[in-house]
Amino acid sequence: MNLEELHKIEVIADKPYPVFLGVPIEDLGEYLHAQLKDVEHILIITHQVVAELYAERLKKGLLDYRVNLLTVPAGESEKSLERLSQLTTAALRCGADRKTLVIALGGGVIGDLAGFFASVFMRGLRFIQVPTTLLAQVDSSIGGKVAVNHPAGKNILGAFHPPLAVWTDFKTLESLPWAEVENGLAESIKHAMSANPDLFEFFEKQEQSIKQRDPLIWSEMVTRSSSVKIGIVSEDEREQGIRALLNLGHSFGHALETEMNYRGVTHGQGVSIGLVAASYLAKIKGLMTSEEVSRVEQLLTNFGLPTKIARKGLDPKILLQHMQTDKKNQGGRKILILPKGIGQAVISKECTDPEILNAWEQVI
Ligand SMILES: NC(=O)c1ccc[n+]([C@@H]2O[C@H](COP(=O)([O-])OP(=O)(O)OC[C@H]3O[C@@H](n4cnc5c(N)ncnc54)[C@H](O)[C@@H]3O)[C@@H](O)[C@H]2O)c1
Repeated sequence: MNLEELHKIEVIADKPYPVFLGVPIEDLGEYLHAQLKDVEHILIITHQVVAELYAERLKKGLLDYRVNLLTVPAGESEKSLERLSQLTTAALRCGADRKTLVIALGGGVIGDLAGFFASVFMRGLRFIQVPTTLLAQVDSSIGGKVAVNHPAGKNILGAFHPPLAVWTDFKTLESLPWAEVENGLAESIKHAMSANPDLFEFFEKQEQSIKQRDPLIWSEMVTRSSSVKIGIVSEDEREQGIRALLNLGHSFGHALETEMNYRGVTHGQGVSIGLVAASYLAKIKGLMTSEEVSRVEQLLTNFGLPTKIARKGLDPKILLQHMQTDKKNQGGRKILILPKGIGQAVISKECTDPEILNAWEQVI
C-alpha cells in the first residue's frame, strides 16, 4: 500500500485529519503502523452484526497489536450513559490505558458512542472512524461531533473529539439493508440541497444506478457527498456559522420524530419530510419556486422516501411546540435553515408561527 496514492481528503481543523475514501478495511493496520509508533493496544467498538461481517477483515491488518473487540447491541437507545459506563468497565478489564487506540467500526450510533467514550476515557483517547453505513460514510464520521443521549434529549451530552482519521471502505455498504440506505440517502440529498446543485443533479440522473447499487456510482455518490460535509466542517469546525446549514430539514424532522416517540418514522423519513416542509416554507418566503419544490419532492419520491405523513392525530400546533426547544433557537426566536433554490441554504430568523404552521399543513 502506498499511502501517497490513496484517495484522501484532508479535513482542515484545529487538528487536521484525513478522510480516506475507497480503502480496504484490512489495510488500516498498515496505515496505523506507519503513523502511530506508540500504540500497542486497540479497542474495536462495534455491533454484533458488523463484527460478524467485518471484524475478521479488520483484525487481519492488526496482528501486531493486542486487540480487544467490544460489541454493543444495535439501536439508538445504546447511545446512553449506562452503555458508556459498561464500556468503561469492559475497557478497564481489557487493560486499556491512555495509549489505547479506539476504532469505531459501524454506523453513526457506534461512531457517536465510541467517539464519546474515547473523548472522556482517562481524559481522552485517540480514535479512528471506520464507518460502515451510508449515513456514517457521508455524514456522521466526519466533523468530530460525538455524543450520547439523555432522557431530556438526543445528543445532549457530547463533545468535539475529532478522529485521527476516517477510514471508508465503500464495499462495507454492500451488506447494508435498503432501509438503512434510505437514512443515508436522505442526508446526502440534504447535503446536495444545502450546498451542491451538481450533486442534486447527479442524484436525479443516477436514480436507477443508485437503486441497483452500481458500485462505481455508489463510490462517486459517497465521495461527492462526503466532500460536501468535509468542505463545510473545514470552514466551520465548531458550528459557529455555515455548519448549521447541514441541519436543513432537521428542525421539522426532529419535531416529527419526537412527537412520534421515534416509532413509525425513521430518521431518514423524518429528514425527508423535513426537507419538503422546509422547501414549502422557503416558497412562502420567496426563496424557492413551485417547480423547485416539485423537484425536491420528486427526487425524494424516486428513492422511496416520504414527502408527506398521514395525519393520524398529528397536530401541526404540537409539532410547532416541539420546534420551540430546537438547539438552534435564540432568545425564544425560531432559527430555521431554509433552502434557497436548489443547492444553497440560508439561516432564517424571520419565519412566523403561522408560516411554519402553513408549511406543516403541506406535508401532513
Ligand atoms: N456525529 C454526527 O455528526 C452525526 C451526524 C448525523 C447522525 N449522527 C448519528 O448517527 C446515528 C444514526 O446512524 P446510522 O444511520 O448509521 O444508524 P446505526 O448506527 O444505528 O446503524 C444502523 C444499523 O445498521 C447496521 N449496520 C451498520 N453497518 C452495517 C453494514 N455494513 N451492513 C449491515 N448492517 C450494518 C447496524 O448494526 C445498525 O443496526 C444517530 O444516532 C445520529 O444521531 C451523528
